[in-house]
Amino acid sequence: MEHERLGIGDLFRMADQFHDSALLQFAHASGVFEWTTTPCAAPDLAGHMGWVSRKTAIFLNALVAIGLLTKDTRGQYLNTPVADECLVKSRPGYMGGVIEHQRLQWDTWTRIGDVLSTQDVLPWHQEQRLRTDAAANDAFHSAMRNLARANVPALLALPIPKGRKHVIDMAGSHGTYLAAMAHADSELTGEVWDLPGAQRLARETFDEYGCAERCAFHTKDITVPASYDGVKADLVMLNDCLHYFEPEMVSDVLALAAGVLAPGGTLLLATQLLHADGVTPAPAAGFSMHMMLNTARGGLHASPWIAQRMGDLGFSVSEWPLDPTGRYVVLLGKRNDGARAH
Ligand SMILES: C[S@@+](CC[C@H](N)C(=O)[O-])C[C@H]1O[C@@H](n2cnc3c(N)ncnc32)[C@H](O)[C@@H]1O
Repeated sequence: MEHERLGIGDLFRMADQFHDSALLQFAHASGVFEWTTTPCAAPDLAGHMGWVSRKTAIFLNALVAIGLLTKDTRGQYLNTPVADECLVKSRPGYMGGVIEHQRLQWDTWTRIGDVLSTQDVLPWHQEQRLRTDAAANDAFHSAMRNLARANVPALLALPIPKGRKHVIDMAGSHGTYLAAMAHADSELTGEVWDLPGAQRLARETFDEYGCAERCAFHTKDITVPASYDGVKADLVMLNDCLHYFEPEMVSDVLALAAGVLAPGGTLLLATQLLHADGVTPAPAAGFSMHMMLNTARGGLHASPWIAQRMGDLGFSVSEWPLDPTGRYVVLLGKRNDGARAH
């Protein structure tokens, strides 16, 4: 494929760009952005934090240089709008879970060679780590909730008829998508299926959206056929989760999920948009790498390939935008069996 020709400056930028990640992640984790909601001088921040004043000024200047703080003529530092909206805990747009989840990635990304040379589950893989490291588990599910919240308006605008229906949010983690639907539609009942580590946040979300009496969390592995025994639903969601599995397993999970749908039912599947080349858009190729490093069987699947698998199962598939940045798409599958959902 064609690439703009890179120069030596691009190589240096690639070699260095982890500096920006480290600055953002450390500043967030240490609470800097909480102190700079109002103008704050370097010696004052150094005093609060127990840091060396001279070094603190250099650190804060670096945060100004990458656009997270401003510095006024009196040498006082203040959050830029994006830092104030997304990096301060009390703000409605707080995205701290995402930042913290990435901060916990440092060790993993130094182990590319180890990952490439084995099929085994490794100690830092989610299969291991989220079961044994409570902080990593919380950061992960909080990050997923942060991301999902920004997508709720687009999710609720999808052409899904309102009214009595049962929804299963498979691999639904925090439960935000189900809870938002239930909040908008008082006749809806539903379930989140996920691994045990998601339970606490999902229940918290149901309480927050006032739908705890109509929505439940079930510990279920979506790759195990027995999980689907006796289950029926009008709408199944499989959002942002097929990248945990190899292609054969994706086909199996799609067939199992389709099998629980009532006639005329809907399969709603959100995924990061990846073209058939496996390379574009570039952030999707990076995310595929992230999944490959963090799971034993993971990698992002091309969106047209997923849509094709849904078509093979008898769905007519339409594609919809989901998130404000355009990174995700929703593949909305309607069963071609004519009947209305019950
Ligand atoms: C990236 S999160 C997405 C969560 C949510 N669906 C969303 O879109 O925000 C993927 C979720 O899949 C869950 N998951 C991974 N493998 C699973 C499995 N075999 N069975 C059930 N859940 C699984 C993870 O625990 C995690 O909560």
